[in-house]
Amino acid sequence: MGLRYNRDVDVLRESPTRAINRIVERFRREGRDVIMLSTGEPGVPPPGEVRLWLSEVLKEDSMRLYSYTPSPGFLSLREAIVGDVRDIDGVDLTVDQVVVVTGGQASMFSTFASILEPGDEVILMDPTYFGYWNLLAYFKVKPTPIIATIEEGFQPDVEAVKESIVRGKTKALILTSPDNPTGRVLDWGVARALAEIAVDYGLWIVYDEPYKTLIYEGEHVSMYKLAPENTISLYAFSKDPGIPGWRLGYVYGPEWIVRRIALVSEAITYNPPSVAQHLVLEYLRNRELRRKHVEYVKRVYMERRDVMLEELSKIKNAKYMKPAGAMFVMVNLGEVLEPLGLDGAKLAEKLLYEKNVAVIPGEFFGKSTKMYIRLSFPTETPQRIREGVRRIKELLETLETRQ
Ligand SMILES: Cc1ncc(COP(=O)(O)O)c(C=O)c1O
Repeated sequence: MGLRYNRDVDVLRESPTRAINRIVERFRREGRDVIMLSTGEPGVPPPGEVRLWLSEVLKEDSMRLYSYTPSPGFLSLREAIVGDVRDIDGVDLTVDQVVVVTGGQASMFSTFASILEPGDEVILMDPTYFGYWNLLAYFKVKPTPIIATIEEGFQPDVEAVKESIVRGKTKALILTSPDNPTGRVLDWGVARALAEIAVDYGLWIVYDEPYKTLIYEGEHVSMYKLAPENTISLYAFSKDPGIPGWRLGYVYGPEWIVRRIALVSEAITYNPPSVAQHLVLEYLRNRELRRKHVEYVKRVYMERRDVMLEELSKIKNAKYMKPAGAMFVMVNLGEVLEPLGLDGAKLAEKLLYEKNVAVIPGEFFGKSTKMYIRLSFPTETPQRIREGVRRIKELLETLETRQ
């Protein structure tokens, strides 16, 4: 008898950044040096002070770093998160409204598992973070994409959101700010209108904000402040303090739903990683250190962003928006690629194989950005970013002359 399995897993797709990383790993073994403009990996490690502190704790002959932790995370960490959310989002939470989880991806999984049922519909932007498409398919939920255009600064189209709501079916609206892949920071007016719609129609707002401290121009919008009964907020420490490999994040929202999200989280991982919790607690409770670190990281990333934009300005007919936050620039190359019979995916492949530059094809983020590529700026040095974008320009010019 053949063995059977759950076919639901067949809808899951490998993340494009991971697929590219595998190819890059192979290239590196062959001695090829690839410029990484693909991943949303931080380029700055956590502050030296907290790393030093942790190195001292590692010398202790005790179980402090190695034991199980409470399932929703250390109480002291949840208290520090409440303080941090007060500072950044300007909202007051109780610790029971916060659950610490094993990274951003886990925050999405636990949240979706707690609120969504097969046949539900969820509104999200197109383009948007590729991880949502995958998970919605897995939970048998229909995505309703709303196109956000570069002309509107990738702000959500409030009327289109309203029109796409199907009573009894639409369960949630996913919003990301600052946004991946566009770098757009949600506008207060748009946020207010969306909060009103969510309250009127009884929708959840799943607000994914792992880049909330990485805003270069403008300010962070708190959806929880605008619709506290309806908002579930997701955060990951992957970007700030920059520990993506250590897997830590948190979810906050109304206590009754957070309690359920915590149970799903416990069912998957029992507790979030202990060492990461200790490090983040030390980071968050040193408020001044934290403030200075964020300022420093923002300065480093802004310089990299601006170098990227300066080089992009030399590419004829490339359209892009200056990202006000996060780590990415979405570049529309439709005017160059269409006459060549190419799209973002084909260009990305050529860039990797012919020019040793890794970028992400726009189609991973939605149907509307097939002619785009996403470039990320935090990982590489300014010199290598300059060189990477210069190679993109060079390849496009070669392709045009080959025509
Ligand atoms: C918008 C958004 N949400 C969630 C995640 C996933 O976070 P994590 O890497 O902590 O799993 C990312 C990661 O890049 C992201 O950009």
